[in-house]
Amino acid sequence: IDQALSAGPLNGKHIIVTSGPTHEPIDPVRYIANRSSGAQGGALAAALRDLGAQVSFVTGPASVPPPAGVKVIAIQDAREMLTAVTSALPADAAVFAAAVADWRVKNTSDQKMKKQNGALPTLEFEENPDILATISRHAKRPPLVVGFAAETETVVEHAQAKRLRKGCDWIVANDVSPETGIMGGSENAVHLITEGAVEDWPRMPKDEVARHLAQRIAEALEAKP
Ligand code: CTP
Ligand code: CA
Repeated sequence: IDQALSAGPLNGKHIIVTSGPTHEPIDPVRYIANRSSGAQGGALAAALRDLGAQVSFVTGPASVPPPAGVKVIAIQDAREMLTAVTSALPADAAVFAAAVADWRVKNTSDQKMKKQNGALPTLEFEENPDILATISRHAKRPPLVVGFAAETETVVEHAQAKRLRKGCDWIVANDVSPETGIMGGSENAVHLITEGAVEDWPRMPKDEVARHLAQRIAEALEAKP
């Protein structure tokens, strides 16, 4: 009976979810971050868990706690996130909801940077590895790879281009312009971009977006087991 009650469409499936911001260090006490709360990634991990999946939840320093019942792998920066995701392979699907910092500071300081009589520090940057693109082209690529796209203009066009550039199967695109209140808010309005189609989903709570997406992932994995 226990078995029957716990049997969900994603039973026996391992799914990796990335979530939250990353923190890129400047010195031991300072970092560069972004406004991601980790709410959408956390909701997604919970929804996948509810359908029976075994979830590896690779998360940066989010402002919402991780859901119960998932394997939490906490990281700080983008390079640690890439290592954690790679170590979690193989998986049946991977969903990249994290807001990974695009750049890290090149000239980090081992000691706290001190003021220098009004002389200003200069930060140099270098590009972080693209985790989604790396996993999409990995020898152990999961059968279903889903990216997110955070855009502030021409959302669908940018996201379609991103899907091809990254080599993922689907992109969940959202408009993160400040006036939408999505980044850090409790609702999301997304477009699901698949190989041949664009679906415009109505604005709804992030956990409802998560449940719909988890359902779609379950259907896709049933179609290609
Ligand atoms: N992503 C990633 N690793 C990075 C940057 C992004 O895995 N270093 C993932 C995000 O988790 C998301 C997708 O790639 O699933 C798209 O992120 P986004 O920031 O929208 O795209 P970028 O390729 O970074 O392009 P840009 O920020 O210039 O629009
Ligand atoms: Ca980016």
